[in-house]
Amino acid sequence: MQTEVTQLMQSHRSIRRYTDEPIPEEVLADILACAQWAPSSHNVQAYSIIVIRSAEKKKQLAQYCGGQRWVENCPVFLVFCADFYRLKLACDMHGTDLAVDEVENLLVAAVDTALAAENTLVAARSHGLGGVMIGGIRNQPEEVARLLNLPPLTTPIMGMCLGYPDQDVAQKPRVPARGVIHEEEYRTEHLAEVLEEYEAISSAYYAQRTGGERAEGWTKQMADYLQKPRRPHLSAFLRQQGFPLK
Ligand SMILES: Cc1cc2nc3c(=O)[nH]c(=O)nc-3n(C[C@H](O)[C@H](O)[C@H](O)COP(=O)(O)O)c2cc1C
Repeated sequence: MQTEVTQLMQSHRSIRRYTDEPIPEEVLADILACAQWAPSSHNVQAYSIIVIRSAEKKKQLAQYCGGQRWVENCPVFLVFCADFYRLKLACDMHGTDLAVDEVENLLVAAVDTALAAENTLVAARSHGLGGVMIGGIRNQPEEVARLLNLPPLTTPIMGMCLGYPDQDVAQKPRVPARGVIHEEEYRTEHLAEVLEEYEAISSAYYAQRTGGERAEGWTKQMADYLQKPRRPHLSAFLRQQGFPLK
């Protein structure tokens, strides 16, 4: 049984091409209000969102994100940052220390940020917009921080391109539900079979999407992707921003 909201959520696909139609200010305001209504761990609301409309900044950010054209071409690009700077100001108001040395705090901020981001995307889609999240914003965090004037105790977590869709892509199949959703306890005995099944499903999807050019399924893609360290520069950047990560 579906509702309008669940139908919308289950028709998700990332959109990377947009028409030139601008996003009306009142639409963007409604979407960003939804971002702020995401739940938040202990209500710390440890994130900030930077709205980028400037063509020059989008161009620069597109380069920092590894040359992703959609970052430059979208009408609005959002940068979601984990943010303890505002919380430090709150602590200063009361003369207390801010103890954000532990990994836990970074997790809290990253989760809060991601929840706000997903609310944003769903809300945007309900207005007929399309979008894609951009982890590439963590490729060159120092340059991003300089361009956006990020204070200490903040770090970019993800970007998001938003605009009216100018493409209609097929949905990317997900891992079959029985490999992800467990009843009462975690079960492992069927997972190999589920992965074989998903390899076949995803391989057929990619073969169709690329006109036969790429037919590696999900397990092969993940095995390739996860064999190398990802963004190893991030720990040093986070320390520089004031997150010691003990
Ligand atoms: C945190 C996050 C970061 C992402 N970063 C990028 C990115 O930098 N560039 C991009 O084109 N897509 C990016 N994506 C989109 C994913 O590739 C996409 O969600 C995934 O392949 C599933 O496809 P779908 O969203 O169309 O279902 C990101 C998604 C998430 C959640």
